[in-house]
Amino acid sequence: MRNPVDHDVQNVFRKRWSPYAYDPDRDVSSEQLKSLFEAARWAMSSFNAQPWRYIVGVRGRSDDIWKGVYETLVDGNREWARNAPVLALGLAELNYEHNGKPNRHAAHDLGAASASLALEAAARGLAVHQMGGFSVDRARELFDLPDGVEPYTAMAIGYPAERGTGEGELEKRDSKPRQRKALNELVIRGGF
Ligand SMILES: Cc1cc2nc3c(=O)[nH]c(=O)nc-3n(C[C@H](O)[C@H](O)[C@H](O)COP(=O)(O)O)c2cc1C
Repeated sequence: MRNPVDHDVQNVFRKRWSPYAYDPDRDVSSEQLKSLFEAARWAMSSFNAQPWRYIVGVRGRSDDIWKGVYETLVDGNREWARNAPVLALGLAELNYEHNGKPNRHAAHDLGAASASLALEAAARGLAVHQMGGFSVDRARELFDLPDGVEPYTAMAIGYPAERGTGEGELEKRDSKPRQRKALNELVIRGGF
């Protein structure tokens, strides 16, 4: 298991990580992808508004979308994300559908949905690597996004490369020690 946890958690939390080295030869089936987005679908959200939206490009199946998402990425992310068979954008509807008022939890709820997606992926031996490093303007332009829909993250999805099969530099990045703040820095009042 990848993550050296201090307290007992379900295996999926020990397994989830954001790899740089993806296996470029291993595609993700439609069934697997549907399961990932089904997990996102069942996330909790303010007023059950479900403000998350995804644009998904699959290499070999929806190449134009894959290329569009790739094109939005900054160079540092293009360098490794080019090996991912699936590239997606995570977006949020900024206003509630039921009353048209601003939903100040929209980005939060997109994050919850994407976390669910990433954990489902980890349970299946897949991995999701989110990226803030992309051009929002280019995404708006390429995907003709309406006002009120905000792209927040790009995501690379695929199977991590087996050790020794990926590119050296990327594998080196992936073998860095895993780090987290201590629990007592995160839980700042009260205790257990
Ligand atoms: C909103 C968000 C934006 C991120 N942006 C980038 C990015 O542009 N490039 C990148 O290489 N990693 C990016 N990451 C990945 C983080 O660096 C990574 O999640 C963090 O280092 C913790 O590592 P782990 O996910 O393997 O546990 C991003 C993650 C999130 C959630």
